[in-house]
Amino acid sequence: MSHRTSSFQLSDLFPREIDIEVCLKTLKIFQKLEGDVNCVVWDASLVLAKYLETMCQSKPDFLSGVRVLELGSGLGVVGLTAATLGAQVTLTDLPEALPLLRLNIAENKSKIVSMGGYAIAESLVWGDKHSDIHKQEFDMIVLADCVYYEDAINPLIETLQCLNNTIKKKPTIYLTQELRDSDIQKKLWNDFSDKLAELFYVEKIPEEQQHVNYRSSDILLLKITKK
Ligand SMILES: C[S@@+](CC[C@H](N)C(=O)[O-])C[C@H]1O[C@@H](n2cnc3c(N)ncnc32)[C@H](O)[C@@H]1O
Repeated sequence: MSHRTSSFQLSDLFPREIDIEVCLKTLKIFQKLEGDVNCVVWDASLVLAKYLETMCQSKPDFLSGVRVLELGSGLGVVGLTAATLGAQVTLTDLPEALPLLRLNIAENKSKIVSMGGYAIAESLVWGDKHSDIHKQEFDMIVLADCVYYEDAINPLIETLQCLNNTIKKKPTIYLTQELRDSDIQKKLWNDFSDKLAELFYVEKIPEEQQHVNYRSSDILLLKITKK
C-alpha cells in the first residue's frame, strides 16, 4: 500500500473539545477542515474513549500506569483519553498521520502530565512485523473504527497476532467498530470478525455497561483476549 504524505497549516484546523468528566479535564483535539480518514474524530472513538472513562469511574486505577498501545489512532481521542486517565500510551498510525497526531499530543500534554499519564506517537503500519513496537510490552491495545479497508484486514489481524505472540503478558484488546450498511463494509466486518474469532476470545460488551450518552446500536464494543 502506498502512503501519502500529509502536512497542514494551522489555518486548516479547527478544534473540538471533549470533556473527560471523571477527572474534570477537557481535551482539545484539532481536526482538519478537509482531508483523509485520519483528519476527523470518528464516533467509534468517542464510544471507546467514554467506555474507558466509565471503567475508571467504577475502578479508579483501571488505567493508572497501564501500558496502552493504540492502533490507527487518527487524531488520538482514545489514546489521549487513556493518557489523561493515567495510562502510559503509545499512539500509532500511518506516517502521514503523525504530524497532526503529535500536535494533538502537544496541545494536551500538560493535562496528561498533571494526571500522571504519558503519550507518544509513533508510526506503525499494520502488517509490518519489523516495527520496533513489537519489541515493547503493552498491557492493553485499543483501536477504534479500523476495519475499513479491504487491503488492511489481513495486515491488521497479523499485527494483533504479532503483538500477542512476541510478549510474555497478553494484552487485553478493546475494539470499537461502526457497523455500516453497505454490502462491502458488511463483508469486510464479517471477514475480519471470522478471522478474529479463530485466534482470540471475543466478548461483546453490552450497551448497558457503556457510557450512558456515548453508545449506539450501530457501534460494536468488543473485549478481545488471546486464546
Ligand atoms: C476510520 S479512521 C479511525 C481513526 C480513529 N481511530 C478514530 O476513530 O477517530 C482509521 C485509521 O486507521 C489508519 N490506518 C489505515 N490503514 C492503516 C494501516 N495500514 N496501518 C496503520 N494505520 C492505518 C488511518 O490513517 C486512520 O487514522
